[in-house]
Amino acid sequence: MARIDFPDGFLWGAATSAYQIEGAWNADGKGESIWDRFAHTPGAIRDGDTGDVACDSYHRYPEDVALLQEMNLGSYRFSISWTRIQPDGRGAPNAKGLDYYRRLVDALLDAGVRPFPTLYHWDLPQALERDGGWTERDTAGRFTDYAEIVASALADRVDSFTIFNEPSIFVTLGYLLGVHAPGRRSAEDWLRASHVVNVAQGQAFAAMRACSSAARIGTALALSPCEPVRDTEEDARAADRWDQIANLWFLEPALLGRYPDVLPERSVRQMQIREGDLALVRAPLDFLGVNLYTRTGVEARDGDPLGIGALPTAPNGFDAGPRTDLGWEVWPDALYDVLTRLARDYDGPVLEVTENGCAYDDGPDEDGAVDDARRVEFHLAYLTALARAIDDGADVRSYHAWSLLDNFEWAEGYAPRFGLVWVDAATGDRTLKRSGHWLARVADENGFES
Ligand code: FCB
Repeated sequence: MARIDFPDGFLWGAATSAYQIEGAWNADGKGESIWDRFAHTPGAIRDGDTGDVACDSYHRYPEDVALLQEMNLGSYRFSISWTRIQPDGRGAPNAKGLDYYRRLVDALLDAGVRPFPTLYHWDLPQALERDGGWTERDTAGRFTDYAEIVASALADRVDSFTIFNEPSIFVTLGYLLGVHAPGRRSAEDWLRASHVVNVAQGQAFAAMRACSSAARIGTALALSPCEPVRDTEEDARAADRWDQIANLWFLEPALLGRYPDVLPERSVRQMQIREGDLALVRAPLDFLGVNLYTRTGVEARDGDPLGIGALPTAPNGFDAGPRTDLGWEVWPDALYDVLTRLARDYDGPVLEVTENGCAYDDGPDEDGAVDDARRVEFHLAYLTALARAIDDGADVRSYHAWSLLDNFEWAEGYAPRFGLVWVDAATGDRTLKRSGHWLARVADENGFES
């Protein structure tokens, strides 16, 4: 047994997002988002599930805050629903929407928990989608206005904001593969949307910085080491190319003011980059949020939609690690690899692990206790890798388990359970799982015996 301790001030936390937990999808003037529309589309979501009620955190957030407190957690990553603030994605803010987030933030502060909001966790106003969504350049301006509203309303009580959650995922699943909202399937839409999102990221950063010089502003990226599925030169080159799309496409514009050089010329033209845009996309982020679950297997492929000759395999094509309920390989070294790479390649940025977790469906036994031993093992292994990354120079300040609650897992509905807390599907009642009790001890001791 070895003891692993984390640096003083390291923050232990849990994460959620608005559409996945809030419910109350049309309460108090909230407008329709692309996820409301998509989930209401027959056949789009497994078992016909929707986020209409979800965990009802819009009403039950005091219970969520109490659970964070019970787990000794010092940080809560949640997201703000744009359509609660601007029902149509433009114009004056809806006071009731802002009040909800003020109440939540104040409850967190009273409980000694850092409120850590994300501005965009995938729920674009449907009214903006009607006008073209993320493929329409104007959406970057609309997002910037919204970011300014949120920053001016909350910066007096929130010190750290995350702009986007996983741009590479929402652009790829929503615009290229069509399995997430808004359900489009077009390489051209992907190319266009990815540039508009990068412009929005840069502009929102600047607008929020102008509202508050003190706020820490970052973005949360889905990162995953890309490894060749076969031991061939072709797959090795393909892995390198896919890495630039999956890991660097929303990072290098912000930090370096450039796109990785991986797309064929005709694809670059479809992005419709304007003169001066590479200055606009730049955002000297105060921290990088790292969402990490597993590693990615990549193989060489002709005729892929973006024209880069590479595609990820699903599942990832390796059989070394065990699999979670979603088929994702448990591979803790992925976290070590990503954190140390960011430290090395981008001059030691401040890092926050904004998501890490696993889907396992262990449920209550006859006494109501949830013994999710595999989840404890998962977090223990990834945290051990994280501690190693800190030892090797990565400046990591926090770790947020995904997720506080079992919740609406997008196209997979409620079947996959990621929570430290079990949520009863019928009543919404919450029960801390064994993993939650375990994390409470880890947070309290700022470390663990491994
Ligand atoms: C991430 C998402 C999050 C959740 C987890 C499992 O990609 O950011 O909302 O769905 O995966």
